[in-house]
Amino acid sequence: MIALGCDHGGYAMMQEVKKYLDECGLEYKDFGCYSEEAVDYPEYGKKVAVAVASGECERGILICGTGIGISIAANKVKGVRAALCSDCFSAAATREHNNANILALGARVVGAGLALKIVDTFLNTPFSNDERHIRRIEMIED
Ligand code: RB5
Repeated sequence: MIALGCDHGGYAMMQEVKKYLDECGLEYKDFGCYSEEAVDYPEYGKKVAVAVASGECERGILICGTGIGISIAANKVKGVRAALCSDCFSAAATREHNNANILALGARVVGAGLALKIVDTFLNTPFSNDERHIRRIEMIED
């Protein structure tokens, strides 16, 4: 199950992401927001972060205008490793090295085509399980 969250700046792009996940047959839970009416991104970043940290959802995708505010909010929740990515290389690397459990996107930064490629990369790249990466992730959690 993938947890989804966005603010008004990310709402339109999130509709594209949902369409893409539907096409892939992937299940998701949409934590809002549900329109382009202005809202506060920390609320949605936290909802998705809690869903992922609690194990209710395995991964999360967050979108705001820049992806910055909503990823900062998500990373306040213990156990969350939210990675703001604007390219596929970073999306693959953050899965392999950081075992990132939430992808953050900036709807005013990347176009929908690239965003969907980043989502695809993020969802389909496994964690390396290398000892050095496990050690470094554990250091973040302490
Ligand atoms: C909303 O205008 C904007 O501040 C928000 O979407 C995001 O970019 C914050 O980091």
